[in-house]
Amino acid sequence: MASTAGGETLAAPDPIADGRTEGVEEEQVVNPWEVSAKGGKIDYDKLVDKFGCQRLDDSLIQRFERITGRRAHVFLRRGLFFAHRDLSDILDAYERGEKFYLYTGRGPSSESLHLGHLVPFMFTKYLQDVFKVPLVIQLTDDEKCMWKGLSVEESERLARENAKDIIACGFDIERTFIFADFSYMSPPIYKNIVRIANCVTGNKIVGIFGLTLEDYGGKFFFPYIQAAPSFPSSFPHIFSGKHSNLRCLIPCAIDQDPYFRMTRDVAPRLSYHKPALIESKFFPALQGESGKMSASDPNSAIYVTDSLKDIKNKVNKYAFSGGQDTLEKQRKYGANLEVDVPVKYLNFFLDDDAELSSIKEKYGSGAMLTGEVKARLIEVLSEIVERHQRARAAVTEEMVDAFMAVRPLPRMFA
Ligand code: TRP
Repeated sequence: MASTAGGETLAAPDPIADGRTEGVEEEQVVNPWEVSAKGGKIDYDKLVDKFGCQRLDDSLIQRFERITGRRAHVFLRRGLFFAHRDLSDILDAYERGEKFYLYTGRGPSSESLHLGHLVPFMFTKYLQDVFKVPLVIQLTDDEKCMWKGLSVEESERLARENAKDIIACGFDIERTFIFADFSYMSPPIYKNIVRIANCVTGNKIVGIFGLTLEDYGGKFFFPYIQAAPSFPSSFPHIFSGKHSNLRCLIPCAIDQDPYFRMTRDVAPRLSYHKPALIESKFFPALQGESGKMSASDPNSAIYVTDSLKDIKNKVNKYAFSGGQDTLEKQRKYGANLEVDVPVKYLNFFLDDDAELSSIKEKYGSGAMLTGEVKARLIEVLSEIVERHQRARAAVTEEMVDAFMAVRPLPRMFA
């Protein structure tokens, strides 16, 4: 067994390896840079068991509603956020009057975001509103230099552009600090990065992230950088005095779990709380449920920059339909809702429960046709995208500077 610089004993290498589930008949890979499954469909149940996180069940959602006094967000009610780690501890503490902060992030690898990229931010904005807690958002411009080979300057530029889309989601400037790694890398967070690094051996990193000695060194070091914002002392300008050991809740997609498994492992050794997580599935591609939407195929997703014409065209042309191929058959047999992408999208974006169940009932029985369901989806998506575009256009360079200014947040719990 290896020893840290402080002499503590380290746990054995991560048995979960890099998210690969071995089975004779199928194999799926889910880690921060690869999501794939034989046959295309991710088995989330298997993933929860492999990763060792917990399922977000109805009783926890009801508890969430009781404590916040608000209806659960549609992403929560309809199972897009489906797993967690220690969410009940955060709720227990919150009920006792103990606060926490939120931490999420984005790797700025492309200019235009699609709806799947917005999901964690829309949800985080909701959490910020219902709990009235501070939020830190990490833009990992450094990560994309290490993993995507982008130049430092290009990564920095993309981070700033992405910050505008994030701000357009409506975050409260009095509770939100957005930072990019290159510009924020200041002594306090760097000290935590080194503390974390001192607890994790190369074996452990290889075990969790599946790296080989052919990979560049940056990839071995980056996990500490994504871990550090889970600890409040990385932000002494926000969390000082009585807030210096605040709990942290991280909304993210399940592929980020390996980073925070490592972080949670390290936390007690540094006398911090383990960060809690609330984790989402991947947003399905227009073509169907085969992992994440792909930034390299513009027809696999709805982008926040799409025109209303693009949206209409993409939904009509590419959204995989579970409807029958002739009118007569559709009337007779109805649609297969299990595989129907318009229904899946409506499930996550149509807030009205009664309307959704009426659509499902009619479409599933053949009373409604694919074209009608798609038309409703086009309306719903157009509204979301138009709203986003209007908000994005109103974000100025000064606003970006203001969100990214290293400053106290005196009204963060007000
Ligand atoms: N690695 C993430 C990505 O590539 C970005 C990220 C950094 C993040 N910190 C995070 C995501 C915390 C979720 C939560 O998008």
